[in-house]
Amino acid sequence: MNKTALITGASAGLGKAFAAALAAKGHDLVLVARREDRLNELANELRSQQGVSVTVIAMDLGELDAAQNIFSRTESLGLCIDILVNNAGYGLTGKFISQPLGTYQKFLQVMVTSVVSLSRLYLEGMVDRGYGRIINVSSVASFLPGSSGNNLYTGAKSLLNSFSETLHKEVKHNGVHVTAICPGFTRTEFHDQEGFQKAKQNIPNFMWSEAEGVVQTAIDANEKGTMIVIPGRFNRFLAFMLRTIPHSLLTKLLA
Ligand SMILES: NC(=O)c1ccc[n+]([C@@H]2O[C@H](COP(=O)([O-])OP(=O)(O)OC[C@H]3O[C@@H](n4cnc5c(N)ncnc54)[C@H](OP(=O)(O)O)[C@@H]3O)[C@@H](O)[C@H]2O)c1
Repeated sequence: MNKTALITGASAGLGKAFAAALAAKGHDLVLVARREDRLNELANELRSQQGVSVTVIAMDLGELDAAQNIFSRTESLGLCIDILVNNAGYGLTGKFISQPLGTYQKFLQVMVTSVVSLSRLYLEGMVDRGYGRIINVSSVASFLPGSSGNNLYTGAKSLLNSFSETLHKEVKHNGVHVTAICPGFTRTEFHDQEGFQKAKQNIPNFMWSEAEGVVQTAIDANEKGTMIVIPGRFNRFLAFMLRTIPHSLLTKLLA
């Protein structure tokens, strides 16, 4: 049946792939990111190729009122959001002291607060209608212990895992499924950011996944009611090792 999906970070990478996959299933879309030109281009493409209705909301999720503004906009347009994909995100590198406080406040706003806020705002309608799907894009890095120069990212993503797990248990009887997808290295624009290009060159080919495969795994797992899913055999092995090796040994190895 035709549903409406809201996807954050739809202007590139995994978000764009989620938009294409959900439009191919016949779902109408609401696309959110900062680069409006890219969203409009994708919206036009999906309208003409898939015949779905697409609404574009240009928004910086790092702004305090972003989630509330997005919610007010969809409410004023009379759109019921049945599927929410909290995907927008980016990485941070460098020592904690090297960046001003505002960098970290904005990071947590995008990576954590906007996910919690959008989930809370749209959950009520999903529960009332007895149907909802929430996919939170986490990372296999969520299983890593903290290491110098990797501030906040692993913690933010592990919070998404426990949030997804607890929320799924709370609302599954209301027809709402919540899933955290934990991808490993995936070919998107993520590693084009400053400080990540070197890592991109050094990572062997077998460790990379394609965005389309990751997205399909996420949608299938969410449909089945899986709370946490790790796409790809190598990433599942890595996550298993990260969860099995004693924390103290792992910290030493990573150092
Ligand atoms: N690629 C990987 O290897 C990998 C691995 C594990 C997890 N992930 C996670 O996957 C998710 C998607 O990343 P990606 O790999 O697809 O990277 P990407 O190609 O760089 O796309 C990131 C998306 O997030 C949006 N975004 C970033 N900051 C935003 C903000 N302040 N407000 C609104 N939108 C914002 C960007 O849109 P605008 O710039 O237009 O705003 C873009 O659409 C992230 O949560 C990331 O942590 C990625």
